[in-house]
Amino acid sequence: MRKIPRARRAALIALAAVVPSVVFAAGSADSKKYEKVDKGPKTIDVSKYPQEIQDTYKKLFSKKCSKCHTLARPLNTSKTPEEWKTYVEKMRKKPNSGIDQKSAEQIAKFLLYDQQQRKDKDKKKDKDKK
Ligand code: HEC
Repeated sequence: MRKIPRARRAALIALAAVVPSVVFAAGSADSKKYEKVDKGPKTIDVSKYPQEIQDTYKKLFSKKCSKCHTLARPLNTSKTPEEWKTYVEKMRKKPNSGIDQKSAEQIAKFLLYDQQQRKDKDKKKDKDKK
């Protein structure tokens, strides 16, 4: 077997040590950003929501929006109605999202309703506590 020169070997070892840490840092920056929301609840109680919204939650949202991240991400993120519309569209356009236009519109409706009924009220509760 041919011997690898000492300097080249040292460079290879250094590279081997650096590459995984760079890849890890890139991955953890994203996971840090979502760490808090992703650790929150992955389900909510929709039994008091209108039937149509309940159906969207069960049949569309739970299935379509849990493909790449858990449902905790959308369920624990607050956005304005405009932002939700933009966001659902952004998710829909991701490669292989499996979300069609009609489902996206219904999911947006669910997210807007849930924002007003639950998230905005929880935020108010937090404020009242202070
Ligand atoms: C094809 C994969 C995929 C699908 C399907 C998907 N997401 Fe995402 N989602 C991502 C990725 C990747 C990110 C990280 C940020 C980005 O790339 O936009 C993300 C981030 C998010 C965020 C965090 C946004 C923020 O505040 O920065 C929310 C909320 C979200 N998704 C909601 C949804 C909803 C709602 C659905 C269903 C309509 C959905 N996602 C479906 C891949 C997906």
